[in-house]
Amino acid sequence: MSPGRLITIEGIEGAGKSSAARWVLEWLQRRAVSAHRTREPGGTELAEQVRRIVLERGSESISATAETLLMFAARAIHLDNLIRPALARGDWVVCDRFTDATRAYQGAGRGVDGAWIEQLAARVHGELVPACTLLLDLPVAMGLARAKSRRAGASDRFEAETSAFFERVRTGYLELARREPHRIRLIDAAASLEDVQRQIGAVLSQLIAAGGAA
Ligand SMILES: Nc1ncnc2c1ncn2[C@@H]1O[C@H](COP(=O)(O)OP(=O)(O)O)[C@@H](O)[C@H]1O
Ligand SMILES: [Mg+2]
Repeated sequence: MSPGRLITIEGIEGAGKSSAARWVLEWLQRRAVSAHRTREPGGTELAEQVRRIVLERGSESISATAETLLMFAARAIHLDNLIRPALARGDWVVCDRFTDATRAYQGAGRGVDGAWIEQLAARVHGELVPACTLLLDLPVAMGLARAKSRRAGASDRFEAETSAFFERVRTGYLELARREPHRIRLIDAAASLEDVQRQIGAVLSQLIAAGGAA
């Protein structure tokens, strides 16, 4: 049995991550790859409770440090209860956000020390690095407009952030992609849904051809 692979999907609000995650799952299942779709923060019952804490706009403040620790706490729970067992069974895992989101949001966005984030990443998931990360990139205004049109209720703690914050997050993501071009594949998410899917399909085909499946 070949080990499962972790595929992560990243980008700012409204980039199309959740749509892409659903499409990637179907793409894999059509090729008889056993796969799960999940998300961060959250993904398991307990980790989803941490998600609510970190996203809800309550009366108490959550510092960037607390936010970073909560993200990694949720991630540790998610890894133990869902991601690692699935990969060990040989299943693939398609995850809507992972540690690159902490690097971009808490690191580039909020100014949390990058070296500390890497220490936490090493402690929480050690050698486990996504086989492939799809970075859905688009102008901030376009992403925020899409997120707004999709949203049903009130905005969460991140959605309520300024454009300047999301510009830093976007720049942070692009910097990560420059540093790790082999793992992090840039997708032009300003394109039509069909074109985004074509770009993602091309990356996935390469991944499978490189020995990922079956
Ligand atoms: N390529 C695209 N072109 C136009 N609209 C899109 C595209 N991708 C996603 N959308 C729409 O934009 C909104 C946000 O997409 P979503 O997948 O929820 O983004 P995210 O999970 O990154 O916040 C949804 O209404 C979705 O249908
Ligand atoms: Mg989403």
